[in-house]
Amino acid sequence: MKHLLKLGDLSREEILSILNLADQLKYERQNGIFRPYLKGKKLGMIFQKSSTRTRVSFETGIYELGGYGLFLSNHDLQIGRGEPVEDTARVLSRYLDGVMIRTFEQKEVEDFAKYGTIPVINGLTDYCHPCQVLADLMTIRERKGSFKGLKMCFVGDGNNMANSLMVGAVKTGMAFSIACPKGYEPDAELVKWARENGEFMMTESVADAAMGADVIYTDVWASMGQEGEKLERERAFKGYQVNAEVMKAANDGAMVLHCLPAHRGEEITADVFEAHADEIFDEAENRLHAQKAVMCKLMK
Ligand code: CP
Ligand code: NVA
Repeated sequence: MKHLLKLGDLSREEILSILNLADQLKYERQNGIFRPYLKGKKLGMIFQKSSTRTRVSFETGIYELGGYGLFLSNHDLQIGRGEPVEDTARVLSRYLDGVMIRTFEQKEVEDFAKYGTIPVINGLTDYCHPCQVLADLMTIRERKGSFKGLKMCFVGDGNNMANSLMVGAVKTGMAFSIACPKGYEPDAELVKWARENGEFMMTESVADAAMGADVIYTDVWASMGQEGEKLERERAFKGYQVNAEVMKAANDGAMVLHCLPAHRGEEITADVFEAHADEIFDEAENRLHAQKAVMCKLMK
């Protein structure tokens, strides 16, 4: 494993190995143990979109590992004025030991990895969000004990989260269902792959998708960069909401996860969100542990 560009690049064993290390790092941290696994290593963090969790978890994560994180905003880098990613990659590779990138196009992350010589971590693109899904998988295993026999249901937009979640579910052996309106399906190639490699179902009916689910997942109707489509999306996604009725269709004791930020009253009701807040904020915390594990695997 040289990079984390998308979850599909990782084998099931590599994913489980990251999760095991993440569990270990979480345990150590809870016991006040901070081993400098990445002493003196420098991580660049390029952000072309906003972030709360990704930025703070990576920055504190590299610090806790004995390294140093550089926050690099698109507004300040020459990349924001048109310097090609090929050149930025070759320059930053001379200074840094690893880079995390949050941007729009998946190609940009892939190009950085192609032209640079340091590990690249995808901190979200329009196509996928692998770091988030590693934390999600960690949270599910922590609470359910294993992935065996579980079904995950995603309600809403077939976006970056849906794309990564279906890969994560199939790779760890969970069944996966998605309820989304016509025209908002996840990536067609990934859907084909999921059908061929796992137990996968796609429907327009939220009730059908949620039936018998152990994990209900949702995300915003309009992602970063889609602000202009807000009204049109509000119309398209009406009814694609995780609420008490959806929870009734799911299995007893079903978890609710949300990558955050959440829009109460849109993709999730305030009551369901608050009833599952412990799970959702564990999930947010686990970003830190999962990403520390990823950095250790890639930068050690
Ligand atoms: N879930 C997530 O990636 O959050 P941020 O956008 O705050 O980083
Ligand atoms: N789908 C959302 C996820 C945010 C973490 C977005 O891309 O904005």
